[in-house]
Amino acid sequence: MHFASLTVLLLAVAAANATRDWSSTTLVSSSTTELYDYGGVTATGPPPMLAETNPVYFDDQETFQPNDLLQTSQPIEGSEGRNIFHLMGNLSPYFAPEEGFGVDEYPLPNGANISQVHLLHRHGSRYPTGGEPLESIVGSLSFLNNYSLKLGVNSLVPKGREELFESGVNSSKLLVRSTTVERVVKSTQNFLAGFFGLDWQEHAEILQLVAADGFNSSLTASYICKNGARLATSPGIDAANEWRNIYLDKKTKMLSNWAGGFNWTVSDTANAQNLCPYETVALGYSPFCELFDYDEWEGFSYTMSIIMSSIVGFGSPISRATGIGWVEEFLARVNGHLLDIPAGLTSANLTLDRDPATFPLSQPLFFDFAHDVTILSVLSAFGITQFADILPASGPPADQQFHTDSITPFAARLNIEIIDAPHEVTGERSYKLEDNDDYIPATGRTRYVHFLLNQRTVPLHASFKECEQRDDGWCELETFLQIQKRSLGKAQFQYSCNGDWDMGPYGSVTNGVPAQ
Ligand SMILES: *[C@@H]1O[C@H](CO)[C@@H](O)[C@H](O)[C@H]1NC(C)=O
Ligand SMILES: *[C@@H]1O[C@H](CO)[C@@H](O)[C@H](O)[C@H]1NC(C)=O
Ligand SMILES: *[C@@H]1O[C@H](CO)[C@@H](O)[C@H](O)[C@H]1NC(C)=O
Ligand SMILES: *[C@@H]1O[C@H](CO)[C@@H](O)[C@H](O)[C@H]1NC(C)=O
Ligand SMILES: *[C@@H]1O[C@H](CO)[C@@H](O)[C@H](O)[C@H]1NC(C)=O
Ligand SMILES: *[C@@H]1O[C@H](CO)[C@@H](O)[C@H](O)[C@H]1NC(C)=O
Repeated sequence: MHFASLTVLLLAVAAANATRDWSSTTLVSSSTTELYDYGGVTATGPPPMLAETNPVYFDDQETFQPNDLLQTSQPIEGSEGRNIFHLMGNLSPYFAPEEGFGVDEYPLPNGANISQVHLLHRHGSRYPTGGEPLESIVGSLSFLNNYSLKLGVNSLVPKGREELFESGVNSSKLLVRSTTVERVVKSTQNFLAGFFGLDWQEHAEILQLVAADGFNSSLTASYICKNGARLATSPGIDAANEWRNIYLDKKTKMLSNWAGGFNWTVSDTANAQNLCPYETVALGYSPFCELFDYDEWEGFSYTMSIIMSSIVGFGSPISRATGIGWVEEFLARVNGHLLDIPAGLTSANLTLDRDPATFPLSQPLFFDFAHDVTILSVLSAFGITQFADILPASGPPADQQFHTDSITPFAARLNIEIIDAPHEVTGERSYKLEDNDDYIPATGRTRYVHFLLNQRTVPLHASFKECEQRDDGWCELETFLQIQKRSLGKAQFQYSCNGDWDMGPYGSVTNGVPAQ
């Protein structure tokens, strides 16, 4: 970047900083307002017009995210072909994590089928949720487009896809759940238009669960979980700031020199870095990206992981409580009955969930659209402890499992497939499709559960010792359902959401409930 244009940028940020008090809030609001700030005013920024304004040049250090509309080919110092757009936490444009979560994907053996698909989908790329710089891009817009069809459908294994699509189209109208938040509704509509075509309304209906104070919802539990508000001062924010002071120290000194005259702080540097992902998804390109080198993007990613794991992941005292409503709905759907748990144990709206018109059971596809927060809390409530690692404020641990970017990028999706097989499938899988090699002879019909997060398998044996160690990461459905009987109790909904517990220092909460 030329020095002159850099100076202009820095001055612009400094000026914005002088007129609005966003420097101290950006870090929090960019990643956590989904907890507290649903609905509200929306506005749309200018569409990406790169053909007219493309300021990008190419060289041998580019980093690239193949996503329509977005120009993400940028020279990043030290990237060596690696992609910084996979390091932007919950602000990452959608991608399927190349390294996966520990196992590979395997096809269904011949004769097996997928009898149910449960999809929990995050909305697509959004503008900042408010309280952030650049008034012009405050609002909400989804870039979920045609490509979400391909991604959404491809996340079913190839053999199951056709049958499911047909059964989905052929049954009575599919009931799809969403919230009342504009970006979530738009994402739902775009997804359905991609999935069914523009006449999707002939095939599907959207049920909007109200996201507002006083309303129960399994998709946005924060309104019924009183203690959620306490997390605005979570020790995780302090830990993130501590880490930020470490990884942005050098760059802050450098920018401070360049900005001349302004008292440039670590917060300002962090805000400038935040602009990269937002401008990229909103405007197609951001000059702020190349201001930071690859190591600093890894630092950014880690900041996001500290924040998200401690506010909505296993490090959060309300994580299981806010996710348990959806988990119980999932169990009811798998077992084929209406929600039958007593009142007061989840955030679910029992009026809706006890009525077959609003909680249908006969459909093979269950599509729910919500937020990153929903997906993360649901993973906790299931007990996917693979993602429960503690993230020190001093820097990333060697074997870090919780990466916000690969768990909840924009348009993240958790797919849970129920697989129905004529025989037991061996845990040592092959890729052969022609014969039935993978079946264990003389065994009977067996059902499995398969978790996919952003199109990659989450191996259930990594979190549950009762689940057999399998190449494909599946778990026998009966075993899994047995394990899940414990989840409701473990969530401690009332204590977690309404109890008077102590927040404790960073790192003291490890299981998604208040530390004992
Ligand atoms: C969306 O997909 C349809 C069918 O594949 C295609 O005809 C259409 O051009 C696509 N639209 C966009 C905007 O890519
Ligand atoms: C879908 O269902 C309708 C009515 O139930 C039936 O007439 C039609 O043949 C079915 N289509 C397919 C592809 O099975
Ligand atoms: C449950 O949902 C219905 C339908 O949206 C709504 O009228 C009712 O107020 C909700 N109840 C609670 C407690 O959220
Ligand atoms: C610069 O800002 C920081 C943080 O607001 C403050 O602590 C420091 O005293 C300021 N330095 C100068 C020279 O104004
Ligand atoms: C709403 O949730 C609260 C807390 O779990 C519960 O006490 C109440 O019965 C629920 N109401 C409905 C209609 O689901
Ligand atoms: C799915 O597989 C099971 C087990 O082989 C079988 O009993 C069932 O009929 C199959 N269902 C469909 C729709 O193919």
